[in-house]
Amino acid sequence: MTFLFNSDARRGAVFAEAFAGELPDLPFAMDATTVDPDAVRYLITWTVPENLVRYRNLEILFSFGAGVDQFRFDTVPAKVKVVRMIEQGIVRMMQEYVALAVLALHRNLPAYLAQQRAGEWRDIPQLQAAARRIGVLGLGQLGQAVLERLKPFGFPLAGWSRSPRRIEGVTCHDGRHGLEEMLEASDILVCLLPLTEETRGFLNAELFAKLPEGAALVHTGRGPQLDHEALVAALDSGQLSAAMIDVTDPEPLPPGHPFWSHPKIILTPHVASVTQPASAARAVIDNIKRHRAGLDPIGLVDRSRGY
Ligand code: NDP
Ligand code: OXD
Repeated sequence: MTFLFNSDARRGAVFAEAFAGELPDLPFAMDATTVDPDAVRYLITWTVPENLVRYRNLEILFSFGAGVDQFRFDTVPAKVKVVRMIEQGIVRMMQEYVALAVLALHRNLPAYLAQQRAGEWRDIPQLQAAARRIGVLGLGQLGQAVLERLKPFGFPLAGWSRSPRRIEGVTCHDGRHGLEEMLEASDILVCLLPLTEETRGFLNAELFAKLPEGAALVHTGRGPQLDHEALVAALDSGQLSAAMIDVTDPEPLPPGHPFWSHPKIILTPHVASVTQPASAARAVIDNIKRHRAGLDPIGLVDRSRGY
């Protein structure tokens, strides 16, 4: 029985040490060429390796990321459990990033940066937090965590999910009608949806038109959810005032792409949140212990939903 680690050696060393301490009976391997494929019960990876079927006794395929859209489920045998990464490091970093982005947009930072570049010293009328409504698309582990972190600032908070949710201090919406209601009352819209067939191309011209004029966007979901041309058009027309974008399609963007230099866009290179090896190892170890005890791992993916 072996745990196979398919990622970089630096993070592998952190995992190896944690596994040696917590699961000394489970051999830990970082070089697939040195292991008997039949011994591999657990595999952690960012993308599904081409030859996955050779691991005939694989029980759990762990994703190194919170998202699993990079996995081709049709190449993963049905008996294999797919588990996404749920660990405190990812959550904490996403809370920081979204708080940073919401505050930057609330306090007109893109416009002030443009003024600085133009040598212009001029104040912009400032809304108070109580008048700036925040809407979060996706109320999973990250959507809920960022809403919690935003609470002390006093923004009116709302969120949208597939199934109905109740979160104290947050107006929760679900379904198509709920989406429309939330969009028309979101001055800053944050996307934390997983990429599925339903959410591909979700952030498009039709959606932007439903936001209040001058609304702003924070995109930390996945690149293919955003229609780049529609975003630029909405920014140029004034329908949107600014955007902070962490994920794009493709990544990286090609030279000359309008996002690089658009004065109303702050762009970061998919760094909102990064799996932290020590806490990730802890989460994977706990999940293996749960699995051995006959319990479902935390973060078990529902393949029919795609997340
Ligand atoms: P979860 O699976 O915990 O939550 C997903 C949420 O989205 C749920 O509330 C779900 O609804 C909702 N949702 C999914 N599909 C739909 C739909 N069609 N309509 C309405 N609501 C929908 O995911 P996480 O919170 O852990 O992560 C979210 C995403 O964040 C990841 O999939 C990944 O793409 C992205 N991410 C980005 C990172 C970055 O650095 N930029 C880092 C980490 C993650 P319901 O509650 O009803 O199931
Ligand atoms: C993730 C990511 O899904 O880094 O964890 O985007």
